[in-house]
Amino acid sequence: KPLRLWGGRFEGGPADALQRLSVSVQFDWRLAPYDLLGSRAHARVLHRAGLLTDDELRRMLEALDDLEQACKTGEFRPTVADEDVHTALERGLLERLGSLGGKLRAGRSRNDQIATDLRLYLRDHVRRIVSRLVELETALMNQAEQHADTAAPGMTHLQHAQPVSFGHQLLAHVHAFARDVDRLRDWDRRAAISPLGSGALAGSSLPLDPQAVAEELGFDAAAPNSMDAVADRDFAAEFLFCAAMIGVHLSRLGEEIVLWASQEFRWIEMDDAYSTGSSIMPQKKNPDVAELARGKSGRLIGNLMSLLTTLKGLPLTYNRDLQEDKEPVFDAVDTLLLVLPAMAGLVATMRVNTARLEQSAPEGFALATDLAELLVRKGVPFREAHEAVGHLVVYCQVNDKDFADLTDEELAKVSPHFTAAPADGVDGKDLPGVREVLSVPGALAARKAYGGTAPDRVREQLAALREVVDAQ
Ligand code: ARG
Repeated sequence: KPLRLWGGRFEGGPADALQRLSVSVQFDWRLAPYDLLGSRAHARVLHRAGLLTDDELRRMLEALDDLEQACKTGEFRPTVADEDVHTALERGLLERLGSLGGKLRAGRSRNDQIATDLRLYLRDHVRRIVSRLVELETALMNQAEQHADTAAPGMTHLQHAQPVSFGHQLLAHVHAFARDVDRLRDWDRRAAISPLGSGALAGSSLPLDPQAVAEELGFDAAAPNSMDAVADRDFAAEFLFCAAMIGVHLSRLGEEIVLWASQEFRWIEMDDAYSTGSSIMPQKKNPDVAELARGKSGRLIGNLMSLLTTLKGLPLTYNRDLQEDKEPVFDAVDTLLLVLPAMAGLVATMRVNTARLEQSAPEGFALATDLAELLVRKGVPFREAHEAVGHLVVYCQVNDKDFADLTDEELAKVSPHFTAAPADGVDGKDLPGVREVLSVPGALAARKAYGGTAPDRVREQLAALREVVDAQ
């Protein structure tokens, strides 16, 4: 007869349909190591309360160690008859200890247990996710270091806008991931609360010590309200938001990489180890890693929606709906731990086509703003400068020319200020000649205020980011 944790007042067993609906051990079994941690702490607290003798505690801890070992080797496995991880582990304990095994359940409930297990699991796995994020940040920073001086077409609306340092663009992604790490660290501060001791919902009449248990399990404190403790899944929803945000950042980077690797862009070449072929077209090299990163962001967003929807109508305190918290959380953890290393590898091994980037950086009249700003520094109102350079763009298009192809006479016709020689600006500063303004390195170097794309600023930004990431 299968072990049930709640059989006493029931005459018959559960219907098959109920059993199949109710069982969660197929996905919550991964919580077993955390449940065992909680069990050890709980055994000690029962002992301190005088509810287990020295000898009983010793045998209990030995049995828990043995059970843990058996779980690791796979010698102890949950069966479909075990409703959940707690039931399976109690069966394992009873197999080892006989009736003494039945003493551990005193003063706790699966409601405070599951909330504790999930917090322990997530705090542990968030650390792993942070390590993988740091690897991706490092891969992006290493590429950025190589390409601080590489000019690339900076885009808005996917149209050439202004030239940027390609390193600057890569670091933009690092800032996003650094915020994600920061969010997870901040999340951990709130997640570090132990529900154990809350029992089913009201605490326990036994003289337990929730604060001591919290400390033993590495939490900062015990929950101050037992009803909140068993009902609260904010920590899971907040984690899922962090995961969804990471997913969105991965997706945007993935989308850029898909574009960069295309024949139209040809900004990068992916390493063979991080690209895939086609079963029919022999020439194909596909950006599947980047596409899966983009695609899997969908399920990360879905997981957040799923849990929020589960939570929204629940009265206090525990309701069985809460069992639905685990699959979205596990899926988010698994997804991130799959995608992050693949993206880090893709970024670390991609070869940047520097010549192609530099060649396309000025295309699409990307230096038009620089020309207009040269006029501004000679006292022309920006409105007029914008208009004049706009006409120049049309003139170039009609005559099939680029800015660089214009003669001195053609430039002078647009504005007498477009002189080859350096001149004084209205601000009293020396101004470069128009040819220098029309150079991409000049345009990059000119954007030298804090946060700008000048290669020197990019190198400073990289150094500062390295420190931030080192501390992560
Ligand atoms: N398996 C449940 C869950 O994942 C925990 C058990 C609580 N069940 C109960 N009927 N009180 O939420």
